[in-house]
Amino acid sequence: MSDLVTVILAAGKGTRMKSKLPKVLHKAGGKSMVQHVIDAAKAAGSKRTVVITGFGSEQVRAAIGDQAECVEQKEQLGTGHAVLQAKPLLGDEKGTIMVLCGDTPLLTGDLLKKLYDEHVQAGAKATVLTAIMPDATGYGRIIRSADGSVERIVEHKDATEEERSVREVNSGIYCFDAQALFASLAKVTNDNAQGEYYLPDVLWILKQQGEKIWAVAADDYEDTLGINSRLQLAGAEKILRRRKNEELMAEGVTIMDPDSTYIDADVKVGRDTVIYPQTWLEGNTEIGEECEIGPSVRFQNMKVGNRVTGQFTYAHDAVIDDEVILGQFVHIRPNTHLSKKVKIGNFVEIKNSNVGEGTKLPHLSYIGDTDMGARVNMGCGSLTVNYDGKKKYRTTIGDDAFVGCNSNLVAPVTVEDHGYIAAGSTITDTVPSKGLAIARARQVIIENWKDRRDQ
Ligand code: UD1
Ligand code: CA
Repeated sequence: MSDLVTVILAAGKGTRMKSKLPKVLHKAGGKSMVQHVIDAAKAAGSKRTVVITGFGSEQVRAAIGDQAECVEQKEQLGTGHAVLQAKPLLGDEKGTIMVLCGDTPLLTGDLLKKLYDEHVQAGAKATVLTAIMPDATGYGRIIRSADGSVERIVEHKDATEEERSVREVNSGIYCFDAQALFASLAKVTNDNAQGEYYLPDVLWILKQQGEKIWAVAADDYEDTLGINSRLQLAGAEKILRRRKNEELMAEGVTIMDPDSTYIDADVKVGRDTVIYPQTWLEGNTEIGEECEIGPSVRFQNMKVGNRVTGQFTYAHDAVIDDEVILGQFVHIRPNTHLSKKVKIGNFVEIKNSNVGEGTKLPHLSYIGDTDMGARVNMGCGSLTVNYDGKKKYRTTIGDDAFVGCNSNLVAPVTVEDHGYIAAGSTITDTVPSKGLAIARARQVIIENWKDRRDQ
């Protein structure tokens, strides 16, 4: 087990987001920013995570749930003060504390693992992750001495003109020896341009004591970007979408138009599945192999088998087995299970229902709260009447039943195996096995009706 624990700073308001929602709960790539950071820390081998909350503390705590411990920083007195809030929880830790910010959704487990490994290898008391920024404005600058080693970090607002010309910046991500961190934080003052307790001052304090401090440079500054505005959030969104699409393509998924394909970070897609343009795969959706998904499909939290075809479909919180055909203009709602080889055609909505193997609903149906057997044929326009304005009731349809076009099945009602229903029927009583139900007025012919009317 690694000795790595993580502190994530997430107390700030994020003023520039102009939002009621705490900044770290804004989503990019379908996942909140702080969730990306928690996941990256776990992927790097962190065994324990503490999140420092402040603005919107309750909301952040609720979103994190039991994935991390939370401590509230009542007043935001600076990054050093923020980390100090974790002392009651982590003061006895003997290993490494990694400090991250909650607004850096592009961090990867690999990058944090590299930081941690190099920190341990170097035997440093503190290691900072640095990045070369095209525009370093606003960042703390890395000041190195003549031999190339890190001397200290100077904040933009405290820096001289010469120091501001440095493009190597503090990413705000560090590894510390736990004991050295808390001992040094006690010595940090707020004697600076912002009147804040700066976490980076810990490096200077350790250096003064003759301790080893170290720096690891990120290969790509993009991975360390902090998000402060909606514009930057949209930038992160683009990068996360691109990364996910590239990852899936590398694993054998065809994505016809990556620019119009939006796949959340935790979605899984099997080999040789082809994704057509304008497709959204969200939440914890899992799709099997050799499927054809899209164009214009939105799947949220779906479990989808192999060789499924779907186009122009919205489906959420449902299970679809192998070789199902969906579309076009289909809505599959929560708690629905479509068994193997089911065919759902044009303009069909299904909710809270089980549909048996090989059953067909080719056109214009609404199925709610229904258990359907195998090989049922629902004629065009047939539907379940599941709601009387107060309560919902279930419909049961047996194997091999045949429901004629434009029938209403008024629940609670049962159609037994091999039951037949004549087109246009409104069914209120059980249809027995192998029986035919006709529930409509008989046709009447009035001869020469037109001539009589026109007299
Ligand atoms: C900080 C670093 C700077 C670095 C930059 C990288 C300091 C003093 N400076 O500057 O060297 O280049 O990050 O992005 O650390 N926070 C709290 N409580 C506080 C203050 C901040 O939780 O009291 C959180 C914020 O919510 C944010 C993070 O800490 O997630 C960084 O704080 P911020 O004020 O944005 O620091 P910067 O000025 O960007
Ligand atoms: Ca600041």
